[in-house]
Amino acid sequence: MASGNEGAGVPRTVKAALADRPVAGRVCLEAGAGVGNTTAGLLAAGAKRVYAVTDDPEHAALVRERCGGKSNRLVVIEADLRETPLRTDSVDFVTAHGLCNVLAPAALDSVAAELTRIASPRAHLVLDDYAPLPDDAAVGDLFAVENAASELADGRPALSFYPARLLRRLFVGHGWAFDREKTLLDPVPWTANHLSAHAAAARHAAARLPPGLGDPLVKRADELEATIGSESVGRMYSVALTLPEGSEPA
Ligand SMILES: C[S@@+](CC[C@H](N)C(=O)[O-])C[C@H]1O[C@@H](n2cnc3c(N)ncnc32)[C@H](O)[C@@H]1O
Repeated sequence: MASGNEGAGVPRTVKAALADRPVAGRVCLEAGAGVGNTTAGLLAAGAKRVYAVTDDPEHAALVRERCGGKSNRLVVIEADLRETPLRTDSVDFVTAHGLCNVLAPAALDSVAAELTRIASPRAHLVLDDYAPLPDDAAVGDLFAVENAASELADGRPALSFYPARLLRRLFVGHGWAFDREKTLLDPVPWTANHLSAHAAAARHAAARLPPGLGDPLVKRADELEATIGSESVGRMYSVALTLPEGSEPA
């Protein structure tokens, strides 16, 4: 089980998502390691080993620094989740906490296929993400600017908020069986720090555009960051599934 203060700093959403799941003693894959919140949560919940996968070298370094020193049960892997170096059937617990919203639709299905390949029969999967925002959400205007800049710069949206039922059906289509859904946050508190980070991401993408396209987007991101401040809106959910023995993708 957990040793020392491994659980320190693990967000309530991560704890709530893992609370009814059998993490202890399992080989886990944290898909999209970010700053290591769920990696820390899995280690604290007694995971036998955690493979923390991210395609961002800064995130990989952060997770190593945050969790690696305290645990020889952690392996941080820099890889694209559409094609990882992990062996088929090699993990028995998969988490994707806040991952799917940063995957554009074209990548989402490839990642689902790869997570299914890596998962062993009877593996558990936990998908925690944000439901689509209501039309009148002010933060939606900022995310729209971020998406517009990202579409123009990279040809894909930065953020896609998928309904829980859509992720559930996607993974059921890959052979998983639905287990449960729960609400982690309702409403979601989008803080000034979150909004600053999204405004900065919009500016970063806009900076790669010709000024005639990029400048109006930067101006709009600045305005929205200043006027919205913070907002509590929308829902964060957790969907849990298991992989039946002998399951074949539909
Ligand atoms: C919002 S963060 C996830 C937060 C994290 N799960 C936590 O609990 O702290 C998204 C992570 O997914 C990674 N990511 C996004 N697309 C990816 C891909 N195709 N392959 C690998 N990592 C990816 C990002 O680099 C980032 O590390």
